[in-house]
Amino acid sequence: MPIQRKLIMAGNWKLFKTGPEGAAFVKELAACLGAVEGLDVVVAPPFTSLHQVAEACKGTAVTAAAQDVFWEEKGAFTGEVAPHMVRDAGAAWAIIGHSERRQYFGETDESVAKKARAVVDAGLAPIVCVGELENERESGLTEQVLKRQVTEGLSRMSAEEVAALAIAYEPVWAIGTGRTATPQVAQEACAYIRGLVAERFGSQVAERVRILYGGSVKADNASELMSQADIDGGLVGGASLEVESFAGIIEHSRP
Ligand code: PGA
Repeated sequence: MPIQRKLIMAGNWKLFKTGPEGAAFVKELAACLGAVEGLDVVVAPPFTSLHQVAEACKGTAVTAAAQDVFWEEKGAFTGEVAPHMVRDAGAAWAIIGHSERRQYFGETDESVAKKARAVVDAGLAPIVCVGELENERESGLTEQVLKRQVTEGLSRMSAEEVAALAIAYEPVWAIGTGRTATPQVAQEACAYIRGLVAERFGSQVAERVRILYGGSVKADNASELMSQADIDGGLVGGASLEVESFAGIIEHSRP
């Protein structure tokens, strides 16, 4: 019997929503969803909204994530936030290595590996993002890029730790562009990533690790994407900012 992996639907709010706005969103979303089974619903607000959002999540099916963290616990690192600090603010997850961090803020596979390690050490679950650029796909480099990002990004993890985390496949050309990967393209890449995990950490770990798709996920494409064999949920940007559209995606993804 293949393992049933619990889906994750995570909203990445990026640089949107103050604390009160985020808390109001969670309350409205929770009321709209009612009881949610077989699916983890996650929202990732900016750091400054995290505590208020996490408080609003209490007693609901929604949990909070940080959008990033630094790998050190403390020290002279102006502007940085440590994993135990976001845990203290109420986060249960941390997104690591989002392509916007890689593109605009110099995130590397090495820093992703260190951050993912620190997140696990603080008792949180990382969502490690990978994905190729448009020109990399056009040049036939997708698998090479994914292999490097997955291998290096998870290089500081044990097999058991990898089984408990999530990987988000987000082709950069599909993020915020409205150009969703077709279910076939997304499935192919997620299956490839699962194969990489199997090669390095064994097939049992590969069967357990949850692999999300991200890039222009919307209510009208969610159900086909989420029904693919190797896609275990979504990382949603733009469409997670309104309760109606995020709830619609969740409704269409419920197992
Ligand atoms: P999008 O963003 O849904 O707006 O394409 C996805 C992401 O950046 O995680």
